[in-house]
Amino acid sequence: MAAENKEWVERLRGIQLPQHVGVIMDGNGRWAQKRMLPRSAGHREGAEALGRIVRFVRDCAIPYITFYTFSTENWKRPADEVEQLMNLLHKFLGDTYKYKEENIRVCFLGDPSRLRPDLQRDMKKLEEESRGNTGLTVNIALNYGGRDEIVRAARSLCREAAAGRLRPEDLDEERFAGALDTAGMPECDVVLRPSGEQRISNFLLWQAAYAEFIFMDTLWPDFTEKDFAEAMLEYARRNRRFGGV
Ligand code: IPE
Ligand code: IPE
Ligand code: MG
Repeated sequence: MAAENKEWVERLRGIQLPQHVGVIMDGNGRWAQKRMLPRSAGHREGAEALGRIVRFVRDCAIPYITFYTFSTENWKRPADEVEQLMNLLHKFLGDTYKYKEENIRVCFLGDPSRLRPDLQRDMKKLEEESRGNTGLTVNIALNYGGRDEIVRAARSLCREAAAGRLRPEDLDEERFAGALDTAGMPECDVVLRPSGEQRISNFLLWQAAYAEFIFMDTLWPDFTEKDFAEAMLEYARRNRRFGGV
């Protein structure tokens, strides 16, 4: 680890860190545009940033991080951009050995059914292979939309009810949360959004109900360990009240 990053890890020790960080990885296209490069070059650099931040988060001992990598709305993009994004994801799955070595568990959030069969197969394999890893959990939100996730959860609960296994009066927030893609995981404490946009874009609608939001102007491919560490210092300064006083 670079000396500077080690110093940041030290500085974060002892402050109130989140259990679960959500990251809306945004600004890849603008990063490329600024350099007169194709958008795909921005996505490639964005994937590098993801690797950087995963390693840093693991060193900081934050237990959960979710990266928004492809939304249910991103299908609206040109077919070649979608294909390039899917190919990048495939490359990411090919690098799984690092996750094994680093004791990282990888989970996918979202509806895989619309993805290429080869991707679906490798996603499942990676989830299964990393299931027993006890270090950081990295969620990859892929073909993910917060509304879609809530509808899928409602549908599965309706099936339970129709089969006589769930009484409507027994449905509560906890049971509902257990039907989401993040079942068993802590709620999202903080959402980071680089690139200057200030919106949620259908990310973790349920899990971020009480999240802190930190918006930054940096474009995602430029995002460094220092940016992440500064966001954690900002998070620690926030006074979370959860509706209390
Ligand atoms: C985020 O970067 C990556 C994905 C949404 C897949 P963008 O591609 O949205 O980059 P901008 O917002 O156009 O700069
Ligand atoms: C959000 O970014 C989705 C991901 C980062 C995967 P977008 O660039 O798609 O969101 P909008 O269009 O700015 O809302
Ligand atoms: Mg964008």
